[in-house]
Amino acid sequence: MDKDKRGKLRFDSKAVYIPPDEATRAVNPPIVMASSFQYDREIFQRIVDGERKDVNIYGRCGNPTEYQFEEQMMAIEGADACLATASGMAAISVTLLGLLKSGDHIVCDWTTYSSTHEMLDHRLTDYNIETTFVDTADIDAVKAAIRPNTKVIYFETIANPSMKVAPIKPIVNLAEGNGIIVVCDNTFASPYVMRPLDHGVDIVVESATKFIGGHSDIIGGAICMRSDKLPVDFLEQIRWNTMVKLGAPLAPFNAWMLIRGIQTLSVRLERQCKTAAKLAAHFEGHKAVKGVWYPGLESHPQHNIAKSQMPKFGAMLTFEVKDADAALKVLDNLELSCFSASLGGTRTTTQIPALMAFLDIPQEERLEMGIRDGMIRVSVGLEDVDDLIEDFDAALAKI
Ligand SMILES: Cc1ncc(COP(=O)(O)O)c(C=O)c1O
Repeated sequence: MDKDKRGKLRFDSKAVYIPPDEATRAVNPPIVMASSFQYDREIFQRIVDGERKDVNIYGRCGNPTEYQFEEQMMAIEGADACLATASGMAAISVTLLGLLKSGDHIVCDWTTYSSTHEMLDHRLTDYNIETTFVDTADIDAVKAAIRPNTKVIYFETIANPSMKVAPIKPIVNLAEGNGIIVVCDNTFASPYVMRPLDHGVDIVVESATKFIGGHSDIIGGAICMRSDKLPVDFLEQIRWNTMVKLGAPLAPFNAWMLIRGIQTLSVRLERQCKTAAKLAAHFEGHKAVKGVWYPGLESHPQHNIAKSQMPKFGAMLTFEVKDADAALKVLDNLELSCFSASLGGTRTTTQIPALMAFLDIPQEERLEMGIRDGMIRVSVGLEDVDDLIEDFDAALAKI
């Protein structure tokens, strides 16, 4: 199928269509488990002449299975380019280190994944890259934070774990007028639920570890780009000058598993989103629950924004019980759902953000990020919704 025709396919078809492997005609792409590749005189000369992605050089620089994953990601994310990375954090680090230099400034939402927040708040400051944290749902606050040296606006399409939804179009318009690159992390939504590049975002980072892989068995990441502001070969530039130097390539086996995961992304998410909506509505009426955050609920602070930019509301939700002890008691008493870090798998997983991913962040700062001590974050899996409700109700009855 030619590129144009493939580009016009609908999401479900793009996710499963893989061109046949030229050497074997295999329906599934082969895994190339090689860390190095044999040159001959001609190949050697091509490398000397500056060819990179079209010749296989060394596993840290790229691998055919990883390139195949990049093709599949471009198709489902609507991207012009993709760079696969060892993890979601590698995608974030490579993007930011590739875009920024000493003296640059970032405007970022208060609520992001804890390691992202710490990277911006501590690591990048060591290299004289400063971040102003704001509420990106408040466009005036974003505007006020922009400085002459602002290079990037960064947010999560559905923020971890507050479930905040930032208004993408106004942010993109503001960035456009100021020559700023908009980067967003789409991990909580996944490309099935939300495709930010279609809304004018320049770069999307994904922790493929989560919904894209979908089975809690591998770690991986991806950087996807469609941008008028950046050079067309920007991701190839950062492949060579940043990803290869940091040593953050995606392993071939993980790339192969991710290609497999993409093929069932929409069927998994279709069910997971429906179950999440039912669970959220159930928690909203539960007497032991103080609050529920799910973009599909009318009570969600950015429900109207979510409705205007997301065809689905996702499979992640957060609810709050009276305090951290009660939250721990609930999770310890769940039998069907697992009490576990990470998200996006076939099993429903739960965690307490204040006691787990965000434990190193002082309570005052956590509250500013919208993270309360009694919050429980739920990644909804593929179990029967009634079994899940019974499991949560039994655990909530213990507090
Ligand atoms: C929103 C978000 N972004 C990025 C990451 C980092 O992904 P990885 O663990 O694949 O590095 C996570 C991890 O939980 C996350 O929740």
